[in-house]
Amino acid sequence: MSGPRLSASSLTKRFGGLVAVDDVSIEIAEGECLGLIGPNGAGKTTVFALIAGEIEADAGTILLEGEHLESLPAYRRARKGVARTYQRLEVFPEMTVLEHLLFAQTAHRGSTGVVRDVLGKGRPSVDELGRAEAVLERIGLSAQASTVVGTMSLGSCRLVELARALVTSPKVLLADEPSSGLDSYETRDLGELLTELRETQGISIALVEHDLTMVRAVADRVAVMDLGRVIASGTYDQVMAVDRVRSAYLGNPT
Ligand SMILES: Nc1ncnc2c1ncn2[C@@H]1O[C@H](COP(=O)(O)OP(=O)(O)OP(=O)(O)O)[C@@H](O)[C@H]1O
Ligand SMILES: [Mg+2]
Repeated sequence: MSGPRLSASSLTKRFGGLVAVDDVSIEIAEGECLGLIGPNGAGKTTVFALIAGEIEADAGTILLEGEHLESLPAYRRARKGVARTYQRLEVFPEMTVLEHLLFAQTAHRGSTGVVRDVLGKGRPSVDELGRAEAVLERIGLSAQASTVVGTMSLGSCRLVELARALVTSPKVLLADEPSSGLDSYETRDLGELLTELRETQGISIALVEHDLTMVRAVADRVAVMDLGRVIASGTYDQVMAVDRVRSAYLGNPT
């Protein structure tokens, strides 16, 4: 395949009078990691919500391997290979780690109907169990497969979210502040994991992060947003040399 794996062009999203995302274009190649950074309220999470289909864009196009996604609902974009993790943790405290991964696969293949449940078709297959176990192994959560997520540390819950995204074998992973709440060792390990995923599986990653050390270590390229617009893009060192980036950032450190 030639061309970018994911290409979002001229995305615009207004909330009332606020232009939260203003003519934003990003591209990510197979196996590439794009860092998407910028101060609070810049529009980063909104870009992810637009790409995942959780909210509808006012303008713009989204292509996954050349195929238009913008008219598809979120679940169909997910089935085509767009996965995301959330800035605010979105786990079910009463479910075990393994149940999260099995449920994610059931939802992904769309067999959640009552009739299918009665017929037993909503149950996880041997393949799905195997995939869940393989992802847990890779992420280092195998020992906690039967642990109820509500009893786990924030760092482990973040890994559960990531595992849940990965178990659907995504082509594109949109990771929204995955290091939030992690200590520096956990953050470094997470960065290494993301690097391994793109190198070994060719997953394309968009990484929204406030931890710039992680962005520098993991991202091939960086796009900087401020007030809904991309104000700079290039390598980490290139964007950090741009005056407007420095003032946007240093004016609002997090
Ligand atoms: N559903 C919504 N309704 C109204 N305004 C919204 C909505 N979602 C986001 N916004 C606004 O859009 C702007 C961009 O928000 P967004 O959450 O995308 O920023 P962000 O870059 O992810 O910020 P942060 O780093 O704090 O997570 C903000 O001004 C926010 O208040
Ligand atoms: Mg955000």
